[in-house]
Amino acid sequence: RRKLIIDTDCGSDDAMAIAMALNDPRYEILMFSTVSGNVHVDQAITNTLTTIEHAGTYEPPVYVGCESMLLRPLVYAHETHGDDGMGDLGLRPSRLRPAPGNGVLRMLEELRSHEPGEIDVVALGPLTNLAVAIRLDPQAMARIGRLTVMGSAGLGRGNVTPVAEFNVWQDAEAARIVLEFGFEHLTFVGWDACLGESMLDPDDIRRLRESGPLGRFAIDCNRVLMAMNVERFGDEYLDMADPAAMAAALHPECIAECDRYHCQIDVSDGPSYGSMLVDVNRFDGQPANAAVCSRLHADRYKRYLFATLGAGEWR
Ligand code: BDR
Ligand code: CA
Repeated sequence: RRKLIIDTDCGSDDAMAIAMALNDPRYEILMFSTVSGNVHVDQAITNTLTTIEHAGTYEPPVYVGCESMLLRPLVYAHETHGDDGMGDLGLRPSRLRPAPGNGVLRMLEELRSHEPGEIDVVALGPLTNLAVAIRLDPQAMARIGRLTVMGSAGLGRGNVTPVAEFNVWQDAEAARIVLEFGFEHLTFVGWDACLGESMLDPDDIRRLRESGPLGRFAIDCNRVLMAMNVERFGDEYLDMADPAAMAAALHPECIAECDRYHCQIDVSDGPSYGSMLVDVNRFDGQPANAAVCSRLHADRYKRYLFATLGAGEWR
């Protein structure tokens, strides 16, 4: 099984993505590191542990990571995911507790104690932990196999400003450190990858909800977002950014559009702060430094999502 580390600011779409990964038998999650973002890092730990209990598979350790962003103030996403990030259903882990130790340091230890390229990392929140890890031990970080980030607007529009997406915007300095580190296999799955046909529609939502306890959990914890979306889209739809990124990372057959570009992250104080500029037309003549995934094959993606959430067959 391929080894995986998941870094998360666990809100309700992270929860769905984590449940998918725990149910993919081709991967072994070594650990979770948590970070503030959708919610405070302590709440992110609670939500990750709750999700692991609901997934009912195996129980990787969950470590605390960075509480604060590198420079910027924290702006939680309570209006999207609820005050607790999980739809305010009062969910708590009944048994599991956080693992002792620090997530950034543990990630570096795992990377050092495995062969280069053996561990993949999927980042579902602001990139603070990864940036700190890079500054602490760049050699260890260079041992990551594939790094997949849910971050940026991809080739489309932002979700917190006209051009910026939450995870990059929330700690753009950290995102810039990650982008400029020089990872060999770095993919940003853009916000656009979870839109259009990749949104869960009312039928998909019904199917998941009726499939069993895990499907129901994955949908119900997204109820604040779903209510918001009824106003935005006129019906129950779910734009699930982290599940899209997880599918692109673990099941690349889902990827419909992904190309390498020269990218830059804007950390200047202006209207495009926190955006990732993707040089699609290759104006700047710089070599590509990241892959940007901007679209998934909705049918393959949904098949994978249903299967890993216990609501269907894989193939
Ligand atoms: C990202 O921000 C958070 O709201 C989601 O969990 C996702 O990681 C989408 O912009
Ligand atoms: Ca997230």
